[in-house]
Amino acid sequence: MSGSTTFEFGDDPEAAGRALRDAFGCFTTGVTVVTTIADDGRPVGFTANSFASVSLDPPLALTSIDFKSNSLAHLEASKVFAVNVLHVDQQEIARKFTAKTGDRFEGVETETWGSGVPILKGCMANFELETHHAFDAGDHRVIVGRILKVRYDPHHEPLVFLRGKYRKVHTEL
Ligand SMILES: Cc1cc2nc3c(=O)[nH]c(=O)nc-3n(C[C@H](O)[C@H](O)[C@H](O)COP(=O)(O)O)c2cc1C
Repeated sequence: MSGSTTFEFGDDPEAAGRALRDAFGCFTTGVTVVTTIADDGRPVGFTANSFASVSLDPPLALTSIDFKSNSLAHLEASKVFAVNVLHVDQQEIARKFTAKTGDRFEGVETETWGSGVPILKGCMANFELETHHAFDAGDHRVIVGRILKVRYDPHHEPLVFLRGKYRKVHTEL
């Protein structure tokens, strides 16, 4: 069955938003929780799928944060953050870190490395980063981080996000 849609960006911002979401939704991503630490030591974190590798030497990766996100000010202030890559059994954590109320870290095991930001235990991968540079791009702020430390366990199946839903994929090592 074929159901392809073509959309040219023009005068209808509502239709453009829909087309863009649907088109972006065709790109399969992993799911991460981006964490940092507030001035008062409180852990901060939110679910993000905008994580991309940028450079091997120096080691850089980026994430992009909505200006509406409450975490953005803390990320900007602390200049250190972690990207915690979730595996398929951590969908509940992905859901938790979008919750508008309650303590997102309740029941979530964390540790700290050198920077003091929360590192979620048991993930498929963890990246600890310091902000290398950041810039505004439309309604998001892009933060490029220099990677300080990584931990990874490729023996997990990843949690993936496709067409607006969390999905499972089966992979061969
Ligand atoms: C799968 C998924 C991916 C998301 N990716 C991002 C992202 O890359 N950047 C972002 O700013 N928000 C992203 N969000 C939305 C935030 O998780 C959500 O708005 C969260 O409540 C923000 O929390 P905060 O306001 O406490 O920072 C994503 C949500 C989901 C479900």
